[in-house]
Amino acid sequence: MMLAIRLTAPGGIESLLLQSVEDAAPGPDEVAIEAIATSINPADVKIRTGAVMPARGDFPFTLGYDLVGTVVGTGGEVADLPVGTRVLAMSALALTGRGTWAERVCLPRAGVARLPAELDPVPLARLPLVGLTAYQAVRRVDPAPGAEVLVAGAGGSVGRLVVQLLLRRGVRVHGLVRRPEQVDRLPVHDLIIPHVGQAPPRPVDVVIDAAGGDFSSALADGGRYLGLVPDRLPTREVLARRSLSRAVLITQESGAQLAELVELVRAGALTLETPRVLPMTDVHAAHKEFEHDGQRNVVLIPDHR
Ligand SMILES: NC(=O)c1ccc[n+]([C@@H]2O[C@H](COP(=O)([O-])OP(=O)(O)OC[C@H]3O[C@@H](n4cnc5c(N)ncnc54)[C@H](OP(=O)(O)O)[C@@H]3O)[C@@H](O)[C@H]2O)c1
Repeated sequence: MMLAIRLTAPGGIESLLLQSVEDAAPGPDEVAIEAIATSINPADVKIRTGAVMPARGDFPFTLGYDLVGTVVGTGGEVADLPVGTRVLAMSALALTGRGTWAERVCLPRAGVARLPAELDPVPLARLPLVGLTAYQAVRRVDPAPGAEVLVAGAGGSVGRLVVQLLLRRGVRVHGLVRRPEQVDRLPVHDLIIPHVGQAPPRPVDVVIDAAGGDFSSALADGGRYLGLVPDRLPTREVLARRSLSRAVLITQESGAQLAELVELVRAGALTLETPRVLPMTDVHAAHKEFEHDGQRNVVLIPDHR
């Protein structure tokens, strides 16, 4: 048996319970991982409150997208991750119903990446979902060097990584934030804080929207809008009037892409914020912290650590 944080019904923080559950055995192509750390994402809160329902899984089920841990077993088809290897992975909870807030988690090998021994694993628990989202967003829009891109929600966890990945491509980045205190942490070319009345100095080629809204007025005619918050997007009809196109990203698990992101972190080319670390047994306090601290940067560690 092991401990897991389970959602008993859609609702408030009290709907989350630390429960003793059966240890899962890895399937043929899976890796069993003992958790070093996991983290909280807005998607966990959306599922907890019932705003989003996972496509699979019955209550109670385990929440959580992110995992950093140590391999403790593998299925018969996995030959390249020996027991003891440090790894990280994202679990596509909304699609699979399989969460990571547990002492041990089995995940498909294809979504798992190795973690170099020199990296502190705990802050890396903030990387999988937000890192893969940023990576896949930038890859989807594939901007040419010199292109003008507006990142809405640039001060958030996904947005900060999108900004860094775009800058590496030689893109001109306009960062839209809501709170002025996020400003000094952002290496953008132009900073936009709507309530202070600023706008991009000229129309942009692409909007990557990690805030959820309608920021399409910043686009040049013919520009592209990539929404990361599927239920909060400008409608296709509104965009079509100005020949703007729209796409929505749903983040996919990928061990290969995670390995690239880890390498960027190792090389100092991608910076993560320092998270607040709480024990899994303090899950209610951790959620309060996540909801009330504007950074939303909380890592959970199991008690066996
Ligand atoms: N499609 C997918 O598969 C996928 C994957 C991962 C994440 N997501 C979604 O992407 C979003 C971002 O995730 P995250 O982890 O980066 O969350 P986050 O850290 O909370 O970042 C969101 C940022 O957007 C800002 N914001 C919200 N409304 C704004 C507005 N009107 N103008 C300017 N800024 C605004 C927030 O500002 P405040 O701090 O002031 O609120 C915050 O800085 C979430 O909704 C998440 O669920 C989707």
